[in-house]
Amino acid sequence: MSSFIVLGAQWGDEGKGKMTDFLAENADVVVRYQGGNNAGHTVVVGKNEYKLRLIPSGILYEDKLNVIGNGVVVDPKALFEEISYLEGLGAKVTPNNLVVSDRAQLIMPYHKVLDKLKEKSRGKNDIGTTGRGIGPCYTDKAERAGIRVCDLMHKETFREKLEYNVKAKNEYITKVLGGEALDFGAIYNEYMEIAKKLKPFVADISVRVYDAIKADKDVLFEGAQGMLLDVDYGTYPYVTSSNTVAGGVCTGAGIGPTMVQKAVGIAKAYTTRVGKGPFPTELEDETGDWIRDNGHEFGVNTGRARRCGWLDLVILKTSARINGLTSFAVTKIDTLAGLDKIKICVGYKFEDKVIDYFPASLEDLAKCEPIYEEFDGWDSKVADARSYEELPDNAKKYLDKIEKFTGVKISLISVGPRRDQTIVVSDI
Ligand code: GDP
Ligand code: IMO
Ligand code: MG
Repeated sequence: MSSFIVLGAQWGDEGKGKMTDFLAENADVVVRYQGGNNAGHTVVVGKNEYKLRLIPSGILYEDKLNVIGNGVVVDPKALFEEISYLEGLGAKVTPNNLVVSDRAQLIMPYHKVLDKLKEKSRGKNDIGTTGRGIGPCYTDKAERAGIRVCDLMHKETFREKLEYNVKAKNEYITKVLGGEALDFGAIYNEYMEIAKKLKPFVADISVRVYDAIKADKDVLFEGAQGMLLDVDYGTYPYVTSSNTVAGGVCTGAGIGPTMVQKAVGIAKAYTTRVGKGPFPTELEDETGDWIRDNGHEFGVNTGRARRCGWLDLVILKTSARINGLTSFAVTKIDTLAGLDKIKICVGYKFEDKVIDYFPASLEDLAKCEPIYEEFDGWDSKVADARSYEELPDNAKKYLDKIEKFTGVKISLISVGPRRDQTIVVSDI
């Protein structure tokens, strides 16, 4: 039995899609357990580039089971759009290789409207969400007003829940947020059509995942977003609305903690963030622009420019602790090639102390000054390395610093977006 988690150790976009696809070769089942189509996971296979939002990144192998867990918020229209998109690129998506939890919450049209109107009403305190309805859908789940996939399979239950929700949301949308009312009938009819298409994919995924683990299959849990976007441990309120940390696997896929052995933290060789919120090592200068251009740091989902900055080991150390990381996969060291000097943040000066953990309060975080260590750079030949030995010495020193500071080994190094541009240092 081997089951392991692949998750983002920073603010998302670390290369989870690439590393999930790479590791999925030896897995039988790939499970998404939180988030929704706010994610954008890129997988490059041969000449094709696939951008996955909701569907697990194991879908490009024909023989893997891909699971959308109960912790995921599912926009069913986006799901079928993604299936068509993948089929257009030659992938096969059928109920044999994709199942969706009957307990997953549905993203409804009013969630997307609410997401956008609430952002507007926050004014300068907006979060910079993806506008996909993620926050309002998780709000309804906690409020116990949500509509689940299994409800959609029961016409009368669905009608009743939808009626209640459209009435309540329309009041709020029109009277508080100044938006336009939604039409119950149009949503009902549209979702009844969707129900027919969705039905063959629906399953009790906790049973499927449990049985797979018990049958000695290899199960990969694919995280979305990253540790600092976690609703509890991220830079709240500038976070997403789910538990992106490893703990989210248990609740989001319906399995116990004793059934997962390993957690691989995907860490980009520098730091990026999309949307608003604090970012201690952000580079608002030419170097930041250079990293953005060289690393093509533009959002998969919204096309927004990603904010870029130096690698922050305070973040990685915190991530190692909160996620119980057993190893790191470090991505995009090729992007830094060409820089003469590269900095790593090795602590924060906070009041009269030096700290190596991430403070809860944004006021305290604002007072933190990164302490940097400077490293000599390497050149673009790094992208040709296929073993640890072939890496430039300066890149090795950089990677060595990550391991020493965090106390977590690096098992994988990514030197480019393709599958073959991956160095296996040790078994994960
Ligand atoms: P995810 O959300 O964590 O899956 O990451 P994204 O797909 O949003 O962003 C990562 C981007 O970097 C994608 O365009 C990947 O194709 C690309 N990528 C992943 N690993 C590497 C790498 O090692 N080097 C380079 N140059 N690009 C990479
Ligand atoms: P992947 O899986 C980076 C960010 C948004 C915003 C905040 C809240 O590709 O790494 P939401 O729409 O979730 O309510 O937005 O979270 N965000 C991401 N940033 N990568 C992601 O996913 C993200 N998903 C959400 O930009 O700041
Ligand atoms: Mg992404």
